[in-house]
Amino acid sequence: MLFKELIDKNRSHREFASGNTAPREAVREWILNASHCPAAMNMQTLKYKIVDDTEQIAKILPITRWGTSLPDKKLPPKGHEPTTLIVICHDNTISPMKPIFMIDIGICAQTIMLSAAEQGFGGCIIGSASTEDLKQSVELPENLQPMLLLGIGAPEDTVVLTAFEGSTKYYRDQNNVHYVPKRSLDEIIIE
Ligand SMILES: Cc1cc2nc3c(=O)[nH]c(=O)nc-3n(C[C@H](O)[C@H](O)[C@H](O)COP(=O)(O)O)c2cc1C
Repeated sequence: MLFKELIDKNRSHREFASGNTAPREAVREWILNASHCPAAMNMQTLKYKIVDDTEQIAKILPITRWGTSLPDKKLPPKGHEPTTLIVICHDNTISPMKPIFMIDIGICAQTIMLSAAEQGFGGCIIGSASTEDLKQSVELPENLQPMLLLGIGAPEDTVVLTAFEGSTKYYRDQNNVHYVPKRSLDEIIIE
């Protein structure tokens, strides 16, 4: 797959096939890719908790919010939850948390999502779960500060990029096709 195709394929997905869990080895490879990314001062403060147990996932999902721009939809729908969660954590023993490390988190999150998309998986970066709620829902050593959640599975929803026409709000049509408006190149390149 061309890199451009992978980028476009790597949309945020919020509905998943049940029973199609990414193998642990595959998830470990995605995280290996993330570990080869640039890192501020090369300190590599990030640690990753893989959760692929259905009961554990069910315990964590209530602290997340999916697709809040579609308040009439319950996302993910019951029975179509993500089959793998990855909690990206900052290790306080390597360094106290600093704003620069937030950039590492974004780089690594996207690298994992691209790695998953390349193998036919997909999902959503979930920023709506707070560190405090994640601490209570996921068993983690004291030194690890949960920062961001990735929800991944075998996508079942159809997500399409569309041109920005005055609103960045994503929306769905009557066939449940999910449209994501993106600003044009002419708008975002500063002349
Ligand atoms: C840092 C970050 C946090 C996000 N948090 C959430 C979230 O909590 N819930 C959700 O449904 N989507 C979340 N998203 C996904 C965005 O809504 C999504 O990227 C946006 O709608 C554009 O769709 P696209 O990813 O297909 O381009 C988040 C994305 C990013 C980058």
